[in-house]
Amino acid sequence: MPTIPLVDLQAQYRSIKTEIDAAIQGVLDRGQFILGPEVEALEQEVAVACGTRYAVAVASGTDALELSLRACGITTGDEVITTAYSFFATAEAIVAVGATPVFVDIDPLTYNLDLRRLESHITPKTRALLPVHLYGHPCAMDQVMAIAKQHHLRVVEDCAQAIGARYRAQAVGAFGDAGALSFFPSKNLGGYGDGGMVVTSDPAIADQIRLLRTHGSQGKYWHVALGTNSRLDELQAAILRVKLRHLDRWNATRRHHATRYTEQLAKLSLPELVVPTVVPHAEHVYHQYTVRVTQRDQLKESLTQAGISAQVYYPSILPAQPALAPCVSRSRSYPEAEQACHQVLSLPMFPELSGETIDQIVRQIARALHPSRLPA
Ligand SMILES: Cc1ncc(COP(=O)(O)O)c(C=O)c1O
Repeated sequence: MPTIPLVDLQAQYRSIKTEIDAAIQGVLDRGQFILGPEVEALEQEVAVACGTRYAVAVASGTDALELSLRACGITTGDEVITTAYSFFATAEAIVAVGATPVFVDIDPLTYNLDLRRLESHITPKTRALLPVHLYGHPCAMDQVMAIAKQHHLRVVEDCAQAIGARYRAQAVGAFGDAGALSFFPSKNLGGYGDGGMVVTSDPAIADQIRLLRTHGSQGKYWHVALGTNSRLDELQAAILRVKLRHLDRWNATRRHHATRYTEQLAKLSLPELVVPTVVPHAEHVYHQYTVRVTQRDQLKESLTQAGISAQVYYPSILPAQPALAPCVSRSRSYPEAEQACHQVLSLPMFPELSGETIDQIVRQIARALHPSRLPA
């Protein structure tokens, strides 16, 4: 393990060990393991946190996306507009429901789908928009919703990296028809296994996802739809309920760390290094603190040598993924997303990180890029 990891899940566990252990013990004592009181309570608590009427727990963020699209009626022959720059699951979910992903290049400042380019991608087959709040920076959802309304499109928000992020004081996931959350362990609200949730204020969508997650069954052994097995287990829900109580504080601490990184990096005046931008009205939750630097690979290598973990999210754009080749239009290009692939680097970011460690990382960045500008 590097001296300074990208994420330190053990440090987080140690900080809440008593609460977590008690929650796990409670589930073991009750003996109900799949969907149950912990899942129901978590659903209510996440709905409150996101400002939606409903939340429905599923087995992963990927399932949350796919089932949201299905519940919105997206199917074969439909087109869904999304970003060219995200984790693969964003596009995979669209293809899984039989639809075609239509990719839009990104805004180079926020790394989110470029809303200025979005409308030119709408065709008579477009049925939905799937914006991703990448790295925890919320998309400008008022603009997304205005475009959706004008063109009668459904909106599914990919909130996998952004639980707790807000745009104009409203939580992500509460703008569109549905929002998909991931509880993958390293996420801002991560379980100790896979998990996900759909947040929505539409009762029909909530009902449909409840149906689909349990094999389309209405009552025992009576199946009215072809669904799947996508249920959250009680252990994960109990763990996530404990962690949810700390989420606002953890997200605030991430913001605090981001400010320290940005201030310390600014002191170095490195023209080739760009710190994250936060647009007006956006409340970033820094799932990643991602800088952009021309000598990215050299910097990454130097940090690795110094025992500091840093990662590239993502080294390839979605339209270049071999599995998506059959659905990608060759006439389109994504220059901003391509450039991001070559330049982005995510630095260690987790609530338990200390200010001194951030200063140490910044010193190593200075040493790697400009040895002469090392801060005193
Ligand atoms: C943007 C994005 N969308 C979707 C997912 C899929 O979530 P999960 O891993 O819980 O299936 C992830 C998780 O890595 C993600 O980062």
